[in-house]
Parts: sequence; structure tokens; C-alpha cells
Amino acid sequence: MSSENNGKPRGESEQFLSRVTSAIKGKIYLAYSYQAEDTVALDMLVKSAAADTGVFTLDTGKLFPELAAYHMEVEKFFGLSIERLHPDSSEVIELEAGQGEFGMRDSIEARKHCCDIRKVRPLSRLLAGKSAWLTGLRAAQSVTRAGMRLLEYDEQFGLIKINPLVHWSEEDINEYIEKHGLPRNPLYEKGFRSIGCMPCTRPVREGEDIRAGRWWWEDPTQRECGCMVKQGQSKQQGQEPRQHSEKKHERNSATIKLG
Ligand code: ADX
Ligand code: SF4
Repeated sequence: MSSENNGKPRGESEQFLSRVTSAIKGKIYLAYSYQAEDTVALDMLVKSAAADTGVFTLDTGKLFPELAAYHMEVEKFFGLSIERLHPDSSEVIELEAGQGEFGMRDSIEARKHCCDIRKVRPLSRLLAGKSAWLTGLRAAQSVTRAGMRLLEYDEQFGLIKINPLVHWSEEDINEYIEKHGLPRNPLYEKGFRSIGCMPCTRPVREGEDIRAGRWWWEDPTQRECGCMVKQGQSKQQGQEPRQHSEKKHERNSATIKLG
């Protein structure tokens, strides 16, 4: 079977996820950012055939305070625990000593450095040696995401990456939330349509792009934190995959046999 379901009804994403998760031997980790997409992905994951799952959030230290209560609401709703991954405290002290609290707005390099320390490195530490992770990415979110696939080999972190919602629209997400009565992040009521860290996210105005409020001072082609490198892109950009010599990979093959 191909790993694509381009343009197919969203119910097929759920079937696809069940088939993929039952074929993966190790634990599957969901990256949960409190956005609606991730709540849908979490619901689909708990209803899937996955034998062993984990849910984590990258707690950058810069998240909106509203999310503390929402975190508990989601845990209670699904009856599970969401692990908070923190950046290395000495790296954060050094970062803030160098660029201050809002230095990420001074240059793209400063912003990417902050994302690297607060998001990419903790993610890399968690994913080291793991089998598969799952995201709430949608291709329609941005030009940087066009061409992403349902099932990819993540060259940057060296494991399988599943993007079950890659072909979904924002409307599909909202309908699913409504239909299944899932808890909604309160920030959507305040005009946010894509939610990241507080200093780098603003609500969007009518007619603006869904991600117009993310790193709004930057060019849209640059607005990625560095966790979501497209398949084949790490090589094109001359990046080397991250090395995880401290742990043995449980299973990092990109080949999954779907029944
Ligand atoms: S970002 O790169 O611009 O920040 P975005 O907010 O669109 O990414 O989220 C895309 C996917 O990345 C989410 O569906 C989620 O799987 C993952 N993700 C983003 N931010 C976090 C976070 N703070 N914690 C965990 N996962 C995250
Ligand atoms: Fe830092 Fe902003 Fe990136 Fe969050 S989104 S890690 S605050 S630069």
C-alpha cells in the first residue's frame, strides 16, 4: 500500500493510522502542542490499534498561561498524562543572558537559536532511539508544509514520522472536535488560529492567513521552529541528521509493512 491518501475522505486517515500503528513495534509518541489538530490526533491515537503510546509537550517556558488549565482538562478528558519536556536550564540561562527576553525578534538567527534550545533540542533528546512519532501537521497550514506526507522517514531525528492529518483542512479539524465533543483550547476564542509560544504568537485578523500570527515579523517561508524538517530537506540544506550515540535505536526503519 502507498503511504499517501491524497484527497481521500478523512475517515481513511483514521483507518490508515490504525494500520500504521498496529504495524509499528515500539512506542509511538504524540507531539502535543495544545492546538486543535493535536487534540484530534490524540483522539485518533487513543482509538487506534497502537499498543504503546506516549504524549508529550515541549514546555518551552514561554507558553501562554491559559494552557496550564487546558493541560489538566485534556489529561482528565483522555485519562492520560502529558509529559512536559523542558529545555536545559543552563542553556536557557545562557540564551537569555545573550539575547534577553525578547531577543528572538532581533534576527532570524536569534529566533532560530531560541527555538533550537527551547524546542528542537528537548525534542531530539526525547526522540533519540525511538521508533515513531506522530504530529498534527497539515500541509495546508503553510508553504513550508506543502508536500509533507502521511508517513515519512524523519531524517533529522532518525525515526518514523506519522502525520495523520496532513491532508485535512481547518474545517475538517473543527468538525471533528465538535462531533466528538473534544475539549477546545480557550485561546481559539480569543482570535488565535495557530498557537505557539507567547512572545511569538498573536491572534489573527479576519482575512489573514492561519499562520499570520506566528513569528509575524518574518518571511512566511522561514516560519518553522526547526522540529519539522521535510523529507529530503535536511540533506538539501546540508544538515546532518542528529546523532544519538548515547542510546540504541529501538527500531528506526522507514519501512513499514501494512497488512
Ligand atoms: S511550529 O513549528 O510552527 O511551532 P506548529 O505549531 O504548526 O509547529 O505545530 C505543528 C506540530 O508540531 C503540532 O501539531 C505538534 O505535533 C508539534 N508541535 C508544535 N509545537 C509543539 C509543542 N510545544 N509541543 C509538542 N509538539 C509541538
Ligand atoms: Fe523561542 Fe519564540 Fe521559538 Fe518559542 S517560538 S522557542 S519563544 S523563538
